[in-house]
Amino acid sequence: MSARHEPVLVAEVLQFLRNGPGLYLDATLGDGGHAEALLESESGARLLGADRDPAALDFARERLARFGDRVTLAHATFRELPAAHARIGGEPFTGALLDLGLSSRQIDDARRGMSFMSEGPLDLRMDPSRGESAADRLREITEEQLAWVLETHGDVRGARRLARVLVAEARSGALLTTRDLVATIERALPGRPHPRRLAQVFQALRIWINGEAEDLESVLSWLPSAITAGGIVVTLAYHSGEDRRIKHSLRGRAPSVNPRRLPPTAEPRLPEGPWFELTRKVVTPGHDEEVRNPRARSAKLRAFRRKPA
Ligand SMILES: C[S@@+](CC[C@H](N)C(=O)[O-])C[C@H]1O[C@@H](n2cnc3c(N)ncnc32)[C@H](O)[C@@H]1O
Repeated sequence: MSARHEPVLVAEVLQFLRNGPGLYLDATLGDGGHAEALLESESGARLLGADRDPAALDFARERLARFGDRVTLAHATFRELPAAHARIGGEPFTGALLDLGLSSRQIDDARRGMSFMSEGPLDLRMDPSRGESAADRLREITEEQLAWVLETHGDVRGARRLARVLVAEARSGALLTTRDLVATIERALPGRPHPRRLAQVFQALRIWINGEAEDLESVLSWLPSAITAGGIVVTLAYHSGEDRRIKHSLRGRAPSVNPRRLPPTAEPRLPEGPWFELTRKVVTPGHDEEVRNPRARSAKLRAFRRKPA
């Protein structure tokens, strides 16, 4: 049995997210660590807790049972949140949390094939009950598409060469496990095996298999219509692509001209958009948390307040 997920930056998440009584959304419920902390510290909070992983929901259901009807759970990807929200009446959220990426339980479960450090089937799905495994999808993708995935979602150097070898291996039926993938990467990209390089490839494939980039776009564009004026969104991103998407989407349009360079009489064009950013400087874990929970290392927390409509 894998270890429970250690929630990241809990005090900092609560500092921004707690916004008085009302309905909150935890769109990435995982093991329910952040959700539990919120429900304990905000007595008027009710929660819609969603996750695409049925195993995470089972675990969180037990953990949050003591909060009774303050909690509603939904098996939903980000794209399915509008429907899940509508099903419980569509009350605007007082706050929402997106703690992106994987939980420790998913990383440590070798049957999911998420980690280059353990041997398992090359699956990579957060929800194994839907869609196809990475091993199956790799048999169908073209070299060009795969090179794009590796470059865009993993900054993988040598993406074209690697894509060519991966597609050939997959079509010959030789790319079935995490160990097959590691061996193929090391053959296709010579040089000293480097864990960072393996991590980049696994990350890129996982983002593609789970449609994570499209899901994130979808939830970020839905949130303005789902959050009450004065409501809060807190995001935790674990790689630069995610953090960039969040910044671009929630910060709104930056002025095309630096206002300080405009003549004093000109009206500066201010950023537009429905959010006011509460964290101009991104919040990251301190040394103590990094030592206690090394998986927190790459976390970047941002918080935004919904402007009045
Ligand atoms: C980092 S964990 C969250 C941990 C949680 N905050 C806790 O305290 O235990 C991320 C969770 O979000 C879920 N998830 C990631 N992307 C998702 C998406 N696009 N739609 C729904 N759930 C998603 C994963 O299945 C995983 O359980």
